[in-house]
Amino acid sequence: MILILDFGSQYTQLIARRVREAKVYCEIHPYNLATEKIRALHPRGIILSGGPASLYEADAPDIAPEVLRIGCPVLGICYGMYVIAQHLGARSAGARAREYGPATLAIDRDDALFEGVPAREQTVWMSHGDRVETIPGALEAIAHSANSPYAAVRTCDGLIRGIQFHPEVAHTPCGTRVLSNFVHKICGEAGDWTPAAFVETRLADIRERVGPRDRVVMGLSGGVDSSVAAVLIHRAIGDRLKCVFVDTGLLRAGERERMETVFGGRLGHALSVADASGLFLKRLAGVLDPEQKRRIIGHTFIEVFEKEAQALGGAKFLGQGTLYPDVIESVSFKGPSAVIKSHHNVGGLPERMRLELIEPLRELFKDEARAVGRELGLGADVVDREPFPGPGLAVRIVGEVTRERIDLLRRADAIVMEEIAAAGLGANLWQAFAVLLPLKTVGVMGDGRTYESVIAIRAVESSDGMTADWARIDPAVLARLSSRITNEARGVNRVVYDITSKPPATIEWE
Ligand code: XMP
Repeated sequence: MILILDFGSQYTQLIARRVREAKVYCEIHPYNLATEKIRALHPRGIILSGGPASLYEADAPDIAPEVLRIGCPVLGICYGMYVIAQHLGARSAGARAREYGPATLAIDRDDALFEGVPAREQTVWMSHGDRVETIPGALEAIAHSANSPYAAVRTCDGLIRGIQFHPEVAHTPCGTRVLSNFVHKICGEAGDWTPAAFVETRLADIRERVGPRDRVVMGLSGGVDSSVAAVLIHRAIGDRLKCVFVDTGLLRAGERERMETVFGGRLGHALSVADASGLFLKRLAGVLDPEQKRRIIGHTFIEVFEKEAQALGGAKFLGQGTLYPDVIESVSFKGPSAVIKSHHNVGGLPERMRLELIEPLRELFKDEARAVGRELGLGADVVDREPFPGPGLAVRIVGEVTRERIDLLRRADAIVMEEIAAAGLGANLWQAFAVLLPLKTVGVMGDGRTYESVIAIRAVESSDGMTADWARIDPAVLARLSSRITNEARGVNRVVYDITSKPPATIEWE
């Protein structure tokens, strides 16, 4: 494995992505991870990330000197390079001309790091205020840029390297090659970390952890993460896994049936479906505030899940579909004391039920979890599903949630799903759905005047849900949606299309 020590760069996750893309397993830990813990991980190589600090600040983050003596190759990137240089006796200073953006890297000496890089001059991405000014005898320069005489350095024994530029960003075209050279050629990693290898080792881990008799209980939401985690755990321990699917009555059309078809066959006796729609509806009566809706749904979910789980009998573990971004968001730079985010649906449960967590996807990024799902034989209908909020249709019904309004929205939403699928647009969209508004407008149908509900259609493109743009859907598709919704969803006489990006609007309406 490759160990990435994080000095807080906004690009640290990207370093991990690139290493994984080179089919090498890596983990991100805080820069101050104790040396004995580093040794226990048996890294084949260590990467020191960049970071926002300056070496001249008091208490500038640093590594223990022993880290450089562990014996495996080390690569420092930007701030990570200054840290190395400082330990080896170099002098760094605030550069006269700060360098942000593209720069030309001139490679002066052959080095394994630059093997296969097509030319001696390369465009690279710089983002620094400090730079290395003089280097001690233990270091030699292998590349420079107009502004940095020491844009890449190595120790004479070739074990430790530092680079001023950021190889992990797309603006450094040779960066993928540089990182792959480091992990394969310099650290000697084989590059055999694949979904199949992951599944194999993880099955063994789960079996060892759970042992021959203990049981695991977990909530299945129908989303990618919990689905893949459940199928993986089931493959490891069979029916000693019990999955609870809570029907909140706030699901999209056909969702419960889909769960029963997809997972009923696959998980067999491991799946239990709890119909709690009546309870959710009762608690949501008269509630208008979106955050209050969320709280009520969250608490009710936990209550129902806990009851179901207890009825299934003594589990020792709670399975969760936690992914790596959830973990590193809270632990990496801030250090081990920060709280780890738990899955929104079951937060608080492990302590209450005295369950130990089992999170087999904890080290994976979303697309890696999808690849593992495919490896386990799950189809596109599971692994490529669009995200669906935990509070479900409740946050797409602006105003009060009643059975009639859920039914109306569900009918309109089913038409959106059908037409988007028929037009082959699903793969390009982050999400597409209908929203029911809390107002009535005047219309005319047949010979009479109507006074009925408005449905808004929301369809967005996004890569991570943090920002989004409204999808420029073919007007012919929009026309079909409008005509079908007003004809088939009784009680709707007007359809509008949401043309707002995020920001300023959010994706959901509540
Ligand atoms: P917003 O509306 O904040 O949504 O732009 C960004 C992404 O998050 C989803 N979302 C939620 N997911 N519980 C969830 O599990 C929630 O309360 C929630 N609210 C929004 C939303 O569907 C979108 O993909």
